[in-house]
Amino acid sequence: MDSTAQRVVLVTGASRGIGAEAAAQYGATGARVIVNFREKRKRAQAVVDRIVAAGGRASALGADVSDPAAVETLAAEIEANFGRLDVLVLNASGGLERDADPGYATRLNRDAQVNLATTMLPLMPSGGRIVFVTSHQAHFYRANDEVPQGYGPIAASKRAGEDALRALIPEFRSREIGFTVVSGDMIDGTIIVRLLERRDPNSVESRRAAGPLPTVEEFARVIVRAGADDVIDGHTYYVGGDDYLALPRQ
Ligand SMILES: NC(=O)c1ccc[n+]([C@@H]2O[C@H](COP(=O)([O-])OP(=O)(O)OC[C@H]3O[C@@H](n4cnc5c(N)ncnc54)[C@H](OP(=O)(O)O)[C@@H]3O)[C@@H](O)[C@H]2O)c1
Repeated sequence: MDSTAQRVVLVTGASRGIGAEAAAQYGATGARVIVNFREKRKRAQAVVDRIVAAGGRASALGADVSDPAAVETLAAEIEANFGRLDVLVLNASGGLERDADPGYATRLNRDAQVNLATTMLPLMPSGGRIVFVTSHQAHFYRANDEVPQGYGPIAASKRAGEDALRALIPEFRSREIGFTVVSGDMIDGTIIVRLLERRDPNSVESRRAAGPLPTVEEFARVIVRAGADDVIDGHTYYVGGDDYLALPRQ
């Protein structure tokens, strides 16, 4: 077991995709995993069952993280059931949903991330860790950058979320809580990439032409490391996209 063993780990948006795999991998380290979901309880329970079947410990807790009252309830449930939170993985993200209003991306990708961090902070003991999950297209986003069609507001709001969290590093540090960021290229097999393939096939094709996309398993492995490695506050892990990272950016 590594140093994440016995830690209480909350992964937001863990009912599918990258969050589900990260939850499973945290479960394999011996951590007690909280699988957060917004509405897909059955899927979240299937993630819990997978962790338990592999000998781990997990439970599913629903909360729309863009709803501050739901986040309060989530924090109260974590305190009542586990007494503390060691690792907060800010994975849930969105804005491409068909029914999303224009302000939703910012409410979820910036405001909700800050609210989650500040609401969970009192539950986090010294040595805890907050991990923010993002994409290269958001992490490196600047206004007027070319991003796949429809992804602009998500990239801008996720970048704003990262900036707002980074501004909290002094507060995290005063409580001896670490903060890391994991940024990924397009991740193979995810629903977002399939959606982009439909909306803007060229953007995905050009990424594939530059080399194979990282897998969900590879990305999740780094998210688990980011919750435990001894690195400086604010450290960013990059997954895939060497060509992208080599582009001259002023
Ligand atoms: N996919 C990629 O290619 C890629 C690349 C780089 C970085 N990333 C980053 O990786 C993270 C996960 O991406 P993904 O592709 O795995 O996402 P995804 O497949 O869209 O999964 C979204 C997850 O978040 C949950 N969720 C959505 N809105 C929520 C809310 N308001 N409150 C609580 N949970 C919510 C969903 O729960 P329900 O199912 O219950 O609705 C689901 O479990 C994101 O931060 C993304 O930016 C993704």
